[in-house]
Amino acid sequence: MKINKSNRVQNILGIDYPIVQAPMNWITNAEMVAAVSNAGGLGILGFNAGPDAKDDNVPLSQKIRNEIREIQSLTDKPFGINLYSPPEGTEVDNVFVRTTLNVAFEEGVKIIVAVGEVNRNIFREIKERNGVIIFRELNPTVSSAKIAEENGVDIIVATGYDEGGHIPQRAIGTFSIVPTIVDAVKIPVLATGGINEVRGVRAAFALGAEGVFVGTRFIVSEECPASDEAKQDIILSKAEDLLMVSSLQRSTPHKSAREFADMYKNGISSDDVEAEITKRGGIRTGMLDGKVEEGIVSVNTAIDSIKEIKSVEGIVKDLMADFLEK
Ligand SMILES: Cc1cc2nc3c(=O)[nH]c(=O)nc-3n(C[C@H](O)[C@H](O)[C@H](O)COP(=O)(O)O)c2cc1C
Repeated sequence: MKINKSNRVQNILGIDYPIVQAPMNWITNAEMVAAVSNAGGLGILGFNAGPDAKDDNVPLSQKIRNEIREIQSLTDKPFGINLYSPPEGTEVDNVFVRTTLNVAFEEGVKIIVAVGEVNRNIFREIKERNGVIIFRELNPTVSSAKIAEENGVDIIVATGYDEGGHIPQRAIGTFSIVPTIVDAVKIPVLATGGINEVRGVRAAFALGAEGVFVGTRFIVSEECPASDEAKQDIILSKAEDLLMVSSLQRSTPHKSAREFADMYKNGISSDDVEAEITKRGGIRTGMLDGKVEEGIVSVNTAIDSIKEIKSVEGIVKDLMADFLEK
């Protein structure tokens, strides 16, 4: 397959390689984001990032501002920030959304990864403030991809059921959703869900994507603030043993994860199981603190190909092998 070495994703985002590091709650920080951008991809600051994240006395705006400034001290390359895109009508009340947007623009961060639902008010505001929108619908559909395109979204992410984190509830796999969204819109599409190695990148491009959006593989990097226990756990775990702990998440199999999976299998609603997961700390406990038996370790279904901790730069080079100057 012929790979186009310069594409719209690179041009829109101003990056060397068409790879975007997916935002991940609790386990991104300035060092990781800057490392991805310095390696030629696009780093994205996730929710609850950095050393202040756990400190309830630090206001949210200050936490975000500090981390953005730290990234800016480590790179002069573009990077982005994760924004929750709530259902239309609810955004006015959402302090979290307002704070993230205002601080991002005050600090000169223009690339916004809006994740959630189509929200025309939020899209309009970002465009009015000269921002770039990467939109990832949690449960992607053709109709909302078209609405997103009509309302200023620059790049859209097609998320497959294979992904780590909160998984799409329609259970459409990456191989299915990517061409569906590619055919539905004219804007460039990033493929996500289970892309941990160059073969996944090639498959994504073969399906019509113009870039990849990668989460799980970047967890097992030197720069990711996830604990070493969680990184080793991902290396040692097998896809065939992963557990659905609710309809929303899968985890590597450990004590709490087994309990959650049993609750879910025995008919306790996904919402109720999720409430229990949150109570016990979820990915913060399992991945940031490394108590894998107590929290959960949320990953994609392609973990069998993750065999070692590498530098972020090494991961970008591996995945972007076809784009490197020969
Ligand atoms: C541990 C973990 C936490 C995540 N947290 C978030 C989040 O806070 N916000 C978000 O938009 N997506 C989140 N995601 C989803 C990722 O942004 C991305 O969609 C996913 O990781 C891509 O699939 P992959 O893991 O197969 O590469 C998370 C994913 C993981 C694995």
